[in-house]
Amino acid sequence: MKNILNGPGNSLQQEVILTWPGKNPVLETYGAGKDSQQNERDQFYTRKIFTNFKSYTIKGTEKTNAFNSCDNFIIKGDNLIILHSIRDLFINKVKLVYIDPPYNTGKNAFNYKDAFDHAAWLTFMHSRLAIARELLTDDGSLWINIDDRESHYLKVMGDEIFGRENFVINFIWQKKYSPANDAKWFSDTHDHILVFAKDKQLFKPSLLPRSEAMNQRYANPDNDPRGPWKAGGFSVKTYSKDYDYPIQTPSGKIVNPPKGSCWQTSKENYEKKLADNRIWFGIKGSSKPQIKQFLSEVQQGVVAKSIWTYDEVGHNQVSRSEILKLFGDFVFATPKPEKLLKRIIDLSTKEGELVLDFFLGSGTTAAVAHKMNRRYIGIDEMDYIQEVAVARLQKVIEGEQGGVSAGMNWKGGGNFTYMELACQNGNHVNFSDAGNKDCLVSPEDILLNEKFYSLHF
Ligand SMILES: C[S@@+](CC[C@H](N)C(=O)[O-])C[C@H]1O[C@@H](n2cnc3c(N)ncnc32)[C@H](O)[C@@H]1O
Repeated sequence: MKNILNGPGNSLQQEVILTWPGKNPVLETYGAGKDSQQNERDQFYTRKIFTNFKSYTIKGTEKTNAFNSCDNFIIKGDNLIILHSIRDLFINKVKLVYIDPPYNTGKNAFNYKDAFDHAAWLTFMHSRLAIARELLTDDGSLWINIDDRESHYLKVMGDEIFGRENFVINFIWQKKYSPANDAKWFSDTHDHILVFAKDKQLFKPSLLPRSEAMNQRYANPDNDPRGPWKAGGFSVKTYSKDYDYPIQTPSGKIVNPPKGSCWQTSKENYEKKLADNRIWFGIKGSSKPQIKQFLSEVQQGVVAKSIWTYDEVGHNQVSRSEILKLFGDFVFATPKPEKLLKRIIDLSTKEGELVLDFFLGSGTTAAVAHKMNRRYIGIDEMDYIQEVAVARLQKVIEGEQGGVSAGMNWKGGGNFTYMELACQNGNHVNFSDAGNKDCLVSPEDILLNEKFYSLHF
């Protein structure tokens, strides 16, 4: 972290930045010498092509070159290259970016890399967050699942990229069901979900549906025609002399606000509420006044709290069972629960809006987005994308009943388009090579869709 000292007298500038060796990705991480750096950069800037297009529908899979930008996409390849390749088509179009990147645990436990040098991991994330921000709509948001190892660095990095004023919240998700009593220091049972808005003033999260338990707190002991209600306090602690007056209960008792408090409104207003049968003095009419809060008048949802427990959104064992149920085997080690993704998608998007996950893994985000009638783009570089994420989405189309399906009355349907970078991870291909590759699109198609195939920086 660096405070920038500014000019004579070293007056401290307002800016605080996170810095590390090799922060500038393209210039500093490609190649050793100056010439080779230039070569690598030239290659990186070269246009790329996508290939092996397939369309997945309820009827099965077929090779295709007919798709448009409103389709759902699953794309195989390095996410940084792909995000830049699709930039022109999807800039300002994505409502939600959810990512669950490698946590940098230091163990490459599953097939993907999860042991980075700390600085390299920061560079890796910095370049990807920067392009992700560009793709967001002005009212869109980025949600990052991460644990204690890197979360605090990521928060400061996010502040730099999105602006500190656009940090929204750090949700705490209780990811583990049972404590680890063999932990050397403490039993780590939560993840962080950092949320940044492209513009916090425009970001309007949805409310969560009210639960049955919440509604059961409302009753109707006086048969009020406005329906069930709940009694709330009528006194407040912010004292105002005008709101301090005696009230006579129906039983004839005189009551005053508690010492140091006053009523929540003026005498005139109180009388209007009394006439409208909105003041409650208890069954016997002798208790201190309370205000009736009608279920029909409260918000039709609740504001999400910052702590999410596993009984609300699932835990790691739940997501592993979801994979086991789908595939009969643990084909992916670190999936997230469908309920967790449902909550995030519920809070941040509406039907038809576009969701992007460029660390797709087993495809949880895409599977849940599909069931929730959102559009999606999922990206992963590993070969298992076919056997895991693509296969999972095929099952979703066929109407699988795991995860959130039953609760949503999911019946199947829909479609997605699969494609991959013609040459993966740095073996960049020029347009002129397209004719020689096993491309399912003709060179004319590539030219027609030029923007979609171009990599721009
Ligand atoms: C923690 S997993 C994501 C799990 C996912 N949320 C789920 O529910 O299954 C991270 C994924 O990111 C992918 N990944 C890592 N680096 C990548 C890169 N540079 N480009 C594309 N995918 C990458 C890995 O292959 C891995 O599948």
